[in-house]
Amino acid sequence: MKFSRVLLIGVLGLVLVSGEKKRYDGHQVLRFVPKTQDHLEVLRSIQSRSDQRTQKLDFWAEPSHLNSPVDIMVSPEQKAWLQKHADFFGLEHQVMIADVQELADSIKVGAPGTKLTWDAYYDSPEIYAWVDEITAQFPEIITTQSIGKSTEGRELMLMRINKPSDQQKVTVFLNSNIHAREWITSATTTWIFNELLTNEAYAAELDKFDFHYVPVLNPDGLAYTHNGDRLWRKTLSDHDSFWGCLGVDANRNFDKSFGGPGASSDKCSETYHGPSAFSEPETQAVRDYILANKDAIKIYFDVHSYSQLVLLPYGDTNLKPDDYADLLEKGLILENALRERHGTDYVTGTVPDLLYLASGGSFDWVKEKAGVKYSMGIELRDQGQYGFLLPASQIIASGEETLDGFLAIFNAIRDEI
Ligand code: ARG
Ligand code: ZN
Repeated sequence: MKFSRVLLIGVLGLVLVSGEKKRYDGHQVLRFVPKTQDHLEVLRSIQSRSDQRTQKLDFWAEPSHLNSPVDIMVSPEQKAWLQKHADFFGLEHQVMIADVQELADSIKVGAPGTKLTWDAYYDSPEIYAWVDEITAQFPEIITTQSIGKSTEGRELMLMRINKPSDQQKVTVFLNSNIHAREWITSATTTWIFNELLTNEAYAAELDKFDFHYVPVLNPDGLAYTHNGDRLWRKTLSDHDSFWGCLGVDANRNFDKSFGGPGASSDKCSETYHGPSAFSEPETQAVRDYILANKDAIKIYFDVHSYSQLVLLPYGDTNLKPDDYADLLEKGLILENALRERHGTDYVTGTVPDLLYLASGGSFDWVKEKAGVKYSMGIELRDQGQYGFLLPASQIIASGEETLDGFLAIFNAIRDEI
């Protein structure tokens, strides 16, 4: 046992140290659409099996409701096994991504040290260089600060956009890339803030809102998606897993129903909640910053991908908050304004109504423990055609529509405050 552990950790360590990238040759993403309760049960049981390292399947979209797609990434061997299993229950699938490695290789990545262009995806050093540059360009509007450090010592950078104005302002806190592989999230939000700051058409918006913005909440994970494993989701903390598995799902690590439904205690699971609430320096940093600014912050957004959803609290229970009608009304304003630009369809609802129960999520904690009424999430493009491997050619369209949606909801909330 001891030896196998050392060996395994050794092999994993070697992959990291040698800078070798994990490959997904021949891997596919299969979509199953459950038509009966039995189908759903089968998919759920396959998912719980996959918590065991031996047949770890990566569920890009987890089982939720009848007729809601379940997307599973498989190796060729896993595909054979899964197909046999699913056939037996009359569950059909469709191939969404025929070769994950090929698609991943086709996605444009900006060269290290080059400027953000929004026609490619970047790692945090380039994103932070953009933060520094735009801050230098608008020193009277923007201040930046580090709100903490990641496990591997990267700064957690926050931009404060605060234009002097004699109007009543509403403060918005927004973070992206809490999940590492969701590259479109930081690409979209950097585009949005670049646009708000540099396009004269939006000057008036900066008189109405202050923004506290963390472009990359999980910079260790993001770096690892560039250098080690493109499909990494979690942080990179080490909690002494027997199998050498690293990382915590930061969006299961907040202190609302910590360790409850929709989070795993298996350190190798993609939804591992961590050894305790706020075990991760990344979630601690958000907690401390938000608590220190909780009276000012009126709106909180946690930005994810993919599925095209406006997610409302709560995630950990089917019970709706008392003010759910207000949240739903505002969520629909976002959904509809977003659709106007390019016809992109989003759906609005609570996490369990649209997806599944998920405890320890950030916006649940922000609403309940920090008292921010309008605390919600968004799942950006697409609906699974490319999933996490969304071509960079969609960044600007995503930015445009999401900016429209955000401004509509922010203004609607401001009108009411
Ligand atoms: N896809 C997101 C996740 O799995 C869903 C958001 C859950 N959010 C929440 N507050 N529970 O993390
Ligand atoms: Zn996510």
